[in-house]
Amino acid sequence: MAMKQNFSLKEFNTFGIRAVAKHFVEIHADDDLFPIVESGMLRENSFLILGGGSNILLPEFYDGVVLRNCIQGIDVIQDDDDAMVFLVGAGENWNDFVDYSVDLGLHGIEALALIPGTVGACPVQNIGAYGLEAASSIVEVNCVDLDTGHRLVFANAQCAFSYRDSMFKDGFNGNLFITSVKFKLRKYVDAFFVSEEVRKELRLDIDMIAPRHVRDAVIQIRQRKLPDPRLVGNAGSIFKNPFVSTANCARLKTKHPQMPSYRMPDELFKVPAGWLIEQAGWKGWISENRHFGVYQQHALIIVNYGDSTAAELTALIKAIRHSVLVKFGVQLEEEVVLL
Ligand code: EPU
Repeated sequence: MAMKQNFSLKEFNTFGIRAVAKHFVEIHADDDLFPIVESGMLRENSFLILGGGSNILLPEFYDGVVLRNCIQGIDVIQDDDDAMVFLVGAGENWNDFVDYSVDLGLHGIEALALIPGTVGACPVQNIGAYGLEAASSIVEVNCVDLDTGHRLVFANAQCAFSYRDSMFKDGFNGNLFITSVKFKLRKYVDAFFVSEEVRKELRLDIDMIAPRHVRDAVIQIRQRKLPDPRLVGNAGSIFKNPFVSTANCARLKTKHPQMPSYRMPDELFKVPAGWLIEQAGWKGWISENRHFGVYQQHALIIVNYGDSTAAELTALIKAIRHSVLVKFGVQLEEEVVLL
């Protein structure tokens, strides 16, 4: 474990933008954290925990310590008739873990295939897609408190999971370093949930569908709609889908009858941010210098086509947010972490 100075993060963010960290260190085991905590450097400097860098817009220079989570390992800690329990290192690649579980025929995270990032990032924003959220398979999350150096375990119910959110987003003011996550995945399910979009892709009867079919269909859908960050710099959805009140939804539908909306608990409706952004005229927009823009196939994705900067992308995010507010009166909230 060596601390590096003025270290380039270009390879460590899926936007692929130029970014440099004043200090950078890779964490391969819980024990790597303790000397850093004891040194006091995390009190003297600001710090940032980086996983796959797939949901973050880094500044050109990060004047602090970047701790890159590289903790590996997938351990089976329980294997019963109906389920398996895994303890997974937070630095493991998320999609590799999905593949591993699907190859074992397990249910729980098959619809979350191809989401970029690490296992440790999955509870932070409670990743979700095609009607499934990671929270439904998480048993507990293991952390080290970077303020005290104490190991802490949070059971699912303590994590405050909700749509794209959890207590880890600002847990203990960002002092929690997730070291591993425990998942329970099922061998059988009473009712196998498959979203309408996935079922259409599959064209199979529900009783013939296995987790690997769902995983494969999700991969097909994602490859069609979303840019591969290895080929085009992006960080997935830039904004969360906003929740609006019943009255606000009715008001919007009067003006825009074709607006999609999905009923949620507490008399709220979820409206696709991608639709709002497309209607505000942004889909396929490209900057004058042709370095960045809004993805042609999906308006919720900002892409870095060339050498764009954090300042340029931040300005675009603000401009999109403003125009959606002006056109629809709906406030979009970033899904991506902006520093
Ligand atoms: N839509 C448009 N124009 C667009 C994009 C979308 O009109 O350019 C409309 C369509 O009506 C579509 C609806 O928006 O039916 C929803 O679009 P989509 O199914 O692509 O899903 P999303 O709500 O935009 C969410 C997640 C994705 C996840 C998909 C699939 C959020 C913020 N995003 O996107 O997650 O893959 O559902 O379930 O909830 C991510 O978080 O990075 C991400 C890609």
